[in-house]
Amino acid sequence: MIRVLGIETSCDETAASVVALEGDAASPKILSNVVLSQIEEHAAFGGVVPEIAARAHVEALDGIVEAALADAGMPLAGIDAIAATAGPGLVGGLIVGLMTAKAIAAAAGKPLIAINHLEGHALTARLTDGLEFPYLLLLVSGGHTQILAVRGVGDYQRWATTIDDALGEAFDKTAKMLGLPYPGGPNVEKAAQAGDASRFAFPRPMKGSAQPDFSFSGLKTAVRQAATAIEPLSNQDVADICASFQAAVADALADRVSRALARFTETFPGTNKPALVVAGGVAANRAIKATLERLCADAGFTFVAPPLKLCTDNAAMIAWAGIERLREGMAQENGFDFVPRSRWPLDSVSTPMVGSGRRGAKA
Ligand code: KG4
Ligand code: ZN
Repeated sequence: MIRVLGIETSCDETAASVVALEGDAASPKILSNVVLSQIEEHAAFGGVVPEIAARAHVEALDGIVEAALADAGMPLAGIDAIAATAGPGLVGGLIVGLMTAKAIAAAAGKPLIAINHLEGHALTARLTDGLEFPYLLLLVSGGHTQILAVRGVGDYQRWATTIDDALGEAFDKTAKMLGLPYPGGPNVEKAAQAGDASRFAFPRPMKGSAQPDFSFSGLKTAVRQAATAIEPLSNQDVADICASFQAAVADALADRVSRALARFTETFPGTNKPALVVAGGVAANRAIKATLERLCADAGFTFVAPPLKLCTDNAAMIAWAGIERLREGMAQENGFDFVPRSRWPLDSVSTPMVGSGRRGAKA
């Protein structure tokens, strides 16, 4: 039996969770999963303000950890190890989370495991669906847009990343331009429902390009130009722009993902049940999900979308990554002397790229 307390503070969620694994054959259990979102604190600024985030983590984290232990019905003494996000992310929040984890671990005499936030996302489908390696991961959040081949614990290949904005960021900036409230994604999706997706012919960035990466800044510019040209915007104009933007995004994603599915089939030909896992807040978008589902069905892939609560930032995925590392004997390299890393690509051999392995302010 392994029980791990996870702590997550890399962006604008303060989170703690206890995950347990009884024996190798049994499926893991999430004993608690407490997430406090700071959305309201940042809403007025249209994006995450790093200083506000760090201060909010300081104020909330102790109580969130206590709540996670209480929900799990467990004293600290019942925990085998503490796992905390050590990067990538906003450094103020990372310092708060990792230092708190170090203090708790030192006081309780428990091991400390420093976790890469992206690894948390990458391994979630094994916590929720018991997925076997290898599989493909599409991570689409406010800070990241990546496609990763997940080959094993600590064994990731980044096949694509954004060369400019993250997809969630593109939704948030589009919303801001159109006067829709933060966070933009859900509001753009809602407005799009009443819109005509064929009214604006927005570009499909990178579509047809042999280069695997994503790009969204050109699309953002096209949206701005279209909106400026017809100002003042009626509700119908806003809906039409949102619908056209969302259609362009879904199309561009489909092109990028279908390339990755083909590459996966070539690279791992013997895979029994190939799967595409989606993670990150943008995975909530129904139009995007439907597009990905269709692609997977056509390519013979299983489409795995973990429950949204575990797709967006949470500490259960961090605790679970800790368990996976403990099981593999891969936790010892981390520990008390680990320093938070604002940049920390999962795949150390990839060429660095703006926006990759780094979660900056979304504003
Ligand atoms: O993974 P996540 O909760 O957190 C961070 O990135 O920290 O992702 C948040 C992002 C935001 O940019 C938000 O606008 C976007 O996910 N998002 C959506 C939807 N719901 C959230 N984007 C498109 N459609 C949605 N329904
Ligand atoms: Zn995340």
